[in-house]
Amino acid sequence: MSTKKTVIVTGASSGIGLGIAEAFIKKGANVVLNGRNEAKLHAAAERLGAPDQTALVVGDMSSTETPTELVRVALQRFGRVDVLVNNAGHFASKPFGDYTVDDLNGFLSTHLKGTYLASQAAITPMRRQGGGAIINITTVLALRGVKTIPSSAPAAAKGGMNAVTRSLAIELASDNIRVNAISPGIIKTPLYRIKNDEFGKLKDMQPLGRVGEVKDIVDAVLYLADADFVTGVVLPVDGGVAAGGE
Ligand SMILES: NC(=O)c1ccc[n+]([C@@H]2O[C@H](COP(=O)([O-])OP(=O)(O)OC[C@H]3O[C@@H](n4cnc5c(N)ncnc54)[C@H](OP(=O)(O)O)[C@@H]3O)[C@@H](O)[C@H]2O)c1
Repeated sequence: MSTKKTVIVTGASSGIGLGIAEAFIKKGANVVLNGRNEAKLHAAAERLGAPDQTALVVGDMSSTETPTELVRVALQRFGRVDVLVNNAGHFASKPFGDYTVDDLNGFLSTHLKGTYLASQAAITPMRRQGGGAIINITTVLALRGVKTIPSSAPAAAKGGMNAVTRSLAIELASDNIRVNAISPGIIKTPLYRIKNDEFGKLKDMQPLGRVGEVKDIVDAVLYLADADFVTGVVLPVDGGVAAGGE
């Protein structure tokens, strides 16, 4: 990637989003970081230690304002939008009947609507600049059910993101805006609120016999950001889970 591209990363104060932001900063890009919790976002930015290359947008991706605000800040501070990574999100596994309406709305509004509105806002500058890349972080649980991890509500939202990925890839191809998704398996992040050593118990769920690291997803994001002939792909990065198994 050439230097001084501008990348927007939602949910950049922790886990996968923080890793993506760090990788783009190391490549010389400007990065707009988002998260809901102001103190957490500022602490993450401090850790990244690149004030000249970063701008912060505190806000909830389930709102109608934050997705547009991300693009406004990117343009105001850096003058362009080259890559949008729709990563912000949460997770809760529950039996189908236990998800409440609030649970369902939370997943649909943060993951699906947030992705939709941020992408709508980003395509105007991308079109003007002659192209861009949108990368949606979904989940393997939208590609296949896993008996021990019931997750119909997050799967509904992430499955919607996969559908939007393919639909937009076709619609925006003539604008040279590529739209792809990454479908992670279990990645070691604070998402699960478990201790680092407890991830070991989950390794047998992946055919490759280990839990994923943030770097596994970051590498795929960097690839898709630059893969000029790739669009409409939902790429599993999951140790083989999407391929089948128990
Ligand atoms: N880790 C995995 O195994 C795994 C597997 C499949 C998919 N994913 C997906 O990967 C993405 C990143 O997850 P992660 O594992 O890195 O989790 P994480 O460490 O908990 O980070 C989640 C990030 O998203 C932000 N966030 C959550 N809800 C938000 C909202 N409504 N508006 C704005 N920011 C919000 C959080 O900031 P605040 O705390 O300030 O809200 C945080 O920065 C999620 O979309 C998740 O569904 C993860």
